[in-house]
Amino acid sequence: MLWIKAFHIIFVVTWFAGLFYLPRFFVYHSMTDDERLHRQFRVMERKLLGITHIGGALALLFGLWLLFAMSRGNPSYWSQGWLHAKLALASLLLFYHIWCARLVGQFAIGANRHSHTWYRWFNELPAVVLVLVVILVVVRPF
Ligand code: HEM
Repeated sequence: MLWIKAFHIIFVVTWFAGLFYLPRFFVYHSMTDDERLHRQFRVMERKLLGITHIGGALALLFGLWLLFAMSRGNPSYWSQGWLHAKLALASLLLFYHIWCARLVGQFAIGANRHSHTWYRWFNELPAVVLVLVVILVVVRPF
């Protein structure tokens, strides 16, 4: 079980590396009119999105594996408040990931519609989710 949890946390960190830095690329990408820089950002965004997909998929895989392993023979496991809140925040992170993938697609066809200020605020969400989820899984306040 601890090996599964260790790999879950390793891939959560990988996932966050992408979710933290992709929107940062969007901030700088939205500020440039230089075609050579546009091409450079498109390559970096596409490659980082690939790493983010791998981290997210494996964090989810090991997380679900933990969920069913921890709850097997223990149905009350599902009624823990901290776990509900955590899974809700993790779902929000999955939507944020999909949104980032759509934004990479929009930048790739030169169809970005947001300003660098908008992306600076957009970039804050993963940090808020990280703080809340780690407090929930370690402190288990409810
Ligand atoms: C993507 C969906 C996710 C699922 C299904 C999931 C599921 C789980 C489960 C079932 C556990 C075991 C909890 C226990 O010991 O009873 C766990 C542990 C953990 N998860 Fe997740 N998780 C997910 C996402 C995340 C995210 C986004 C983070 C970080 C922000 C995270 C951080 C952790 C940590 C740090 C632990 C170890 C807690 C401890 O043993 O003290 N997980 N996860």
